[in-house]
This record gives sequence, structure tokens and C-alpha cells, in this order.
Amino acid sequence: MAILVLGGAGYIGSHTVDRLIEKGYDVAVVDNLVTGHRDAVNDKARFYQGDVRDADFMNNVFDQEDIEGVIHFVAFSIVPESMKDPLKYFDNNTAGMVKLLEVMHKHDVKKIVFSSTAATYGEPKQIPIKETDPQIPTNPYGESKLAMEKIMHWSDIAYGIKFVALRYFNVAGAKPDGSIGEDHHPETHLVPIILQVAAGEREQLQIFGDDYPTEDGTNIRDYVHVVDLADAHILALEYLKEGKDSNAFNLGSSTGFSNKQMLDAAREVTGKPIPAVMAPRRAGDPSTLVAASDKARTILGWAPQYDDVKEIIKTAWNWKQTHPQGYNDRGGKD
Ligand code: UFG
Repeated sequence: MAILVLGGAGYIGSHTVDRLIEKGYDVAVVDNLVTGHRDAVNDKARFYQGDVRDADFMNNVFDQEDIEGVIHFVAFSIVPESMKDPLKYFDNNTAGMVKLLEVMHKHDVKKIVFSSTAATYGEPKQIPIKETDPQIPTNPYGESKLAMEKIMHWSDIAYGIKFVALRYFNVAGAKPDGSIGEDHHPETHLVPIILQVAAGEREQLQIFGDDYPTEDGTNIRDYVHVVDLADAHILALEYLKEGKDSNAFNLGSSTGFSNKQMLDAAREVTGKPIPAVMAPRRAGDPSTLVAASDKARTILGWAPQYDDVKEIIKTAWNWKQTHPQGYNDRGGKD
């Protein structure tokens, strides 16, 4: 039986497809290539280009494949964009989930691993954030994903579709051999932007806000390596295959790094000066996001290999140097 990876041509999706194949799974991928890259998808996966909101297309995929479980990555995920265009997020992300669950229900597929986010918590009352803490998003992206978690909850109760929601903190890095990595157009994430400056493609880094209530005034985030994150999806799938109940897990390192600390780490890894200036706060940014991730370690047996942010940046820098322009297909261009 196959695992269907929705959004398998994206950054985290492509690394998960790669790890699934390394572990001997049979994999089918659906991606509309709006932000994904065909070249990022492992050759051993069957590829279907289309949109999860297209019921005819999805029914066709489910008819052709003998699907055991679904891993869901198809979502827009840029916080500032969601502040400007919330309906884009509720349509693609939230409405897309309704459509997917309809098709899963129709085809009697009962397992889904879902890429949720720390953005569902909003501005946390306490650090580190626990799975049981209140979820009050501060931006439409987080709200769209929280709604998706709730839709899955009620679909579990009504139709018995079991889910694992994986709430990611900040993902960075690339496969260590440099064959796949992060390639967004436009790029908005801190680590790849810092590396674009290191590579001389951008003049300087803008640090969004130095007046937050943190030690150096800049935002604090919790960085996880993309391959560690990919492995957590496979563990979540195995958890569901063991017949266990729906659940939610934070995926983070439990250590926070400020934007300034990330810049310093990247300067050290790359040996480049990386000019930076302070800029105003970016709308929708919570001050500090750090995960309590012991639940994933205890229940899923997750054991992340990368606990040093410099090692994470090193793999991203390796990808950047071997693929200065990202993938050749220019997919994902806005
Ligand atoms: N930042 C800058 N300058 C830049 C880009 C980013 O200072 O040019 C700052 C941001 O303001 C923020 C930090 O770097 O303080 C990290 O920003 P990212 O855009 O890399 O990541 P976010 O924390 O906004 O969001 C990411 C994912 C979300 C997820 C969230 C959860 O994109 O999907 O982490 O922590 F929800």
C-alpha cells in the first residue's frame, strides 16, 4: 500500500518523501507546483500534478492508488502574506482540508499526518509552549491551521479518521548531501535570507524589530532540522498504523535562538561578514516561540539528530553553495 504525500514537492514535503523512500515505503505525491518544485521529488515516487481542492482530480488519484495513509503539507505558510490576504489562506488551507477529508472518507482512508504549526498558539503565556497550552493565533496563517486541526478532530469523531497534528516551530537546513533544500520565491524565512546575504545576492539582512521583551530585543525562535522534522512524520504515521488515537505534538528543539544569535551563528559558519540593519517589527510576529517537545520524544520516540543551530545552518549553506539559484525548474515562482 502507498503513502500519499500532499505537497511532496515543497520544502518539508520533499524531504519527507525522500526519507519515506529511504525507509522502503511506496510513495505517491500530489502537488500543484504553485510553490513546489518537480525536481525536488524523489524519482521513486509517483507524481500527480493537481490541486487538493479539485475533487475530480483527487478522486482519480485515490482510485488509482491503494492508499494506506496521507501526509498533508499542502498549505500556504507565510505569516506576513496571510496578514495581507487572509482569504487566500482560508481557501487553500482550511477549505482544502474539508475537500481532502471528503475524499478520504469516501475512499475509506483513515489516517492522516498533518503539518500544523507553532503559529496556532499565538503569543504564548509561558515558555516553553506545551501542547495543552491555549491556541489563540495572532495571524490568519495560524488561524487557518488551527481550524484545520479542529476540522480533523470532528472528522475523527464522526468518521473515525485518525490524525496526528505536528506543530512545527522553525524549520531550516537541507539534506546533508545537498541534493534537496529550501527554494521559495519570494523567500521570506530568516535562515535562507541570511544565506542570500552571505552569498552576495542581497545587500543586507533586515532584522525585524529590536524592541521585543527578549534579552537582545530581537525575536526568539526554536529551530529544527528539516530531516529531523521529516522523520517525525514517519514516526507519526507508524504511531497511527499501530492503531493509536489522534494526537498533537510539538516539534522543536526546546532551545530558543534570537534573530541576532542566528546572524552570529551564520557569520561563523559561512565566514562571511553578512551586513545587517535594524528594521521595524513585522506584522503578526510573536516575540518568543520555543517548544516543549518532550511529548514527541516520549510518545513517538522522536530523537532529533541536530541539536546545534550551526550544524543546521551548515547544511543550508551547503545546499545554497551547490544550488545558488535553487532548483532549475524555476517552479514556485510567484
Ligand atoms: N526575520 C527577520 N528578517 C528577515 C526575515 C525574518 O528579521 O528578513 C525574522 C522574523 O521577523 C522572525 C524570525 O526572523 O522574528 C523568523 O522569521 P521566519 O519568517 O523565518 O519564520 P516565522 O517565525 O515567521 O515563521 C515560521 C514559519 C511558520 C511557522 C512559524 C512558527 O514560516 O510557518 O515559523 O514558529 F508557523
